Amino acid sequence: MNWSHWIRQSHRWLALAFTAGFIVNAFVAMRGAEAAFWVYLLVLVPLFLLLPTGLYLFVLPLAVRWRRRGEV
Ligand code: HEM
Repeated sequence: MNWSHWIRQSHRWLALAFTAGFIVNAFVAMRGAEAAFWVYLLVLVPLFLLLPTGLYLFVLPLAVRWRRRGEV
C-alpha cells in the first residue's frame, strides 16, 4: 500500500469537508444565533486531522532528500 498516496487523498477530502463545515459555520454566525456544539465540530474535526496529514506532506519531500543524501 502506498501510504503517501492515501495521506494526500485524505488531506484533499478533509480540505473539502473543512470548507463545507466552514461555510455552515459562517451562515450560522451570520444569523447571529449561537451555534450548537456539533456545528463547531464540523470544522474542528477536519482541521484536527488536516494538521497531521499536512505535516506529513510537508516532511515527505524533505525526508526523501535526507534519505538520498544518506545513500551517497
Ligand atoms: C492544518 C495545517 C495544514 C498543513 C500543515 C498543511 C500542509 C500541506 C502540505 C505540506 C501540502 C502539500 C503541498 C505540496 O505537495 O505542494 C498540502 C496540500 C494541500 N492542502 Fe494542506 N495543510 C494544512 C491545512 C489545510 C487546509 C485547512 C486546507 C483547506 C481547507 C488544505 C488544503 C490542501 C489541499 C487541497 C492540498 C493539495 C492536496 C493534493 O491534492 O495534492 N490544507 N497541505
